[in-house]
Amino acid sequence: RRFFARELLDDAMKRKYAVGAFSAHTAEMVQGIIEAADEQRSPVIIQIGQRAIRNSGFGALVNSIRWHGSHTDVPVVVHLDHGKSYEQAIEAIQAGCTSVMYDGSHHDLDENITVTREVVRAGHAAGVPVEGELGKIPGVEDDLAVDDRDAFYTNPEQALHFWQETQVDSLAVAIGSAHGLYKSKPELDMERLKKISALTNIPIVLHGGSGIPDDQIRQAVANGIAKINVDTELRSAYTQGVREALEQFGDAYDVFPFARTGAERMKRIVVDKMRLFGSAGKA
Ligand code: G3H
Ligand code: 13P
Ligand code: ZN
Ligand code: NA
Repeated sequence: RRFFARELLDDAMKRKYAVGAFSAHTAEMVQGIIEAADEQRSPVIIQIGQRAIRNSGFGALVNSIRWHGSHTDVPVVVHLDHGKSYEQAIEAIQAGCTSVMYDGSHHDLDENITVTREVVRAGHAAGVPVEGELGKIPGVEDDLAVDDRDAFYTNPEQALHFWQETQVDSLAVAIGSAHGLYKSKPELDMERLKKISALTNIPIVLHGGSGIPDDQIRQAVANGIAKINVDTELRSAYTQGVREALEQFGDAYDVFPFARTGAERMKRIVVDKMRLFGSAGKA
């Protein structure tokens, strides 16, 4: 059967763990992530982001996730990450995604609400839950001055308003995390997170999961984070594995060992994250 994100995230909220949303860029990465979920008895979200769409094609990855997902009994959700438009969200729903993010955080509040509401309407008509984003989650290259914080971080009262206006199923927030690996240690704003979670009472999503210290991850989960996105650490481990394989059997031209070794290294990270997030053993 098909699993939808809302069901997984509601259980995560209730039992105080977070579901990992792992970015897949190739079919071998999909295979490795699903093997990790199967071995750890963990629910899992596999997400397809804009970079992966450009490089590998959206449909190719969706179908790969659905095919590998049909060979395990743990819940596997196919998610569009950082959906860039209403049209792309529709494409995702039609292609078989069982979760969609619409990222309108680059718009002003009214425009973000307007488009997100439309995506939610279309998603819910098809039974597909929708993640919205409020506040700006930076890349590590955009170093935020402390004074900018209030301008970029998610405002709790505004989060409640956003939820009331859009009926999103989950909300990505800006609380101090960033995409990519951090130059200096991040400090997540736990008080802000607590307020957002208490006011909205929906699963809160932490983006930029790579590079956040374990103790802050545990605290964030205790304070309402139910989904954690991880991309960069997986790409880094995968690439390291490919490098090792090239050194070991670079003379051969059986292509499979290269990608497979990459997927094996990546899989170790996925297993670690599932244990850290508390999703291992929950399926
Ligand atoms: O959140 C998105 C990924 O971590 C980075 O993907 O390079 O396509 O922005 P991108
Ligand atoms: P990282 O690349 O920092 O893990 O962020 C992933 C992410 O938020 C994808 O949406
Ligand atoms: Zn993200
Ligand atoms: Na990060």
